[in-house]
Amino acid sequence: MQRIPDTPFPTFLVETQESANALLADEITALLKERSGRLVLGLATGSSPIGLYAELVRRFEEDRVDLSLVQTFNLDEYRSLPAGHPASYRTFMMEHLFSKTTVGPRHIHLPPTEAEDLDAACAAWEETIRAAGGIDWQLLGVGRNGHIGFNEPGSPFDSRTRRVELAESTRAANARFFDSQDEVPMEAVTMGIGTILDARRLRVLAFGETKAEVLATVLRGEDDSSIPLNALRGHPDAALYIDAAAAARLG
Ligand code: F6R
Repeated sequence: MQRIPDTPFPTFLVETQESANALLADEITALLKERSGRLVLGLATGSSPIGLYAELVRRFEEDRVDLSLVQTFNLDEYRSLPAGHPASYRTFMMEHLFSKTTVGPRHIHLPPTEAEDLDAACAAWEETIRAAGGIDWQLLGVGRNGHIGFNEPGSPFDSRTRRVELAESTRAANARFFDSQDEVPMEAVTMGIGTILDARRLRVLAFGETKAEVLATVLRGEDDSSIPLNALRGHPDAALYIDAAAAARLG
């Protein structure tokens, strides 16, 4: 692994996705030891975290990590998907991590999507994060347009958990998890950028050529506050891990 010079926040070029996953799994393993298992994790869905979750499951099966006292908060969830829909983020998390480990069902927190008073439910959800002591370690992926969570370009850096409309480019990118793009919901609930920045550590994974353009814009361009990934510039402990394909346009 090599640190890429002159980037606005620490950015590392990894030889393989597996090496980034092992490194992040090592961090989680060390924090679990340090905190006697009482860790608050912020989790992401999508393609980027799949390998890391597989690595955590492997370590769990080998008795190297105990997740029974961990509290988890997911970044986002679609609105208006029937319970148990195969493309919901709840289903994703069950499939890749929760059902394969011992994260307690009462320790799993997904953003509220169906409450009658959604604003109040989002505020209550933020309060649940605070009551848990705040997020120790937050995982992020990056959208092709630079979104983090479902905070699309133009989202204020002090935004909190709320209902959002998805950008068409995001709906197109996520159509691969549905039968067609028409089925991708128009709306979601996401942690705000301000909520994300409150986490003590931010760790971002970006792999593959579809991320190369936005990474070149953020890592080599001006500080443009319309691109959510740029919010990491203001965080004391953020790190981005990218592979060669994602780094291809950095020059
Ligand atoms: C998912 C999330 C999104 C994704 C981003 C990248 O919970 O918050 O911001 O991290 O869209 O998605 P992938 O990893 O599928 O490229």
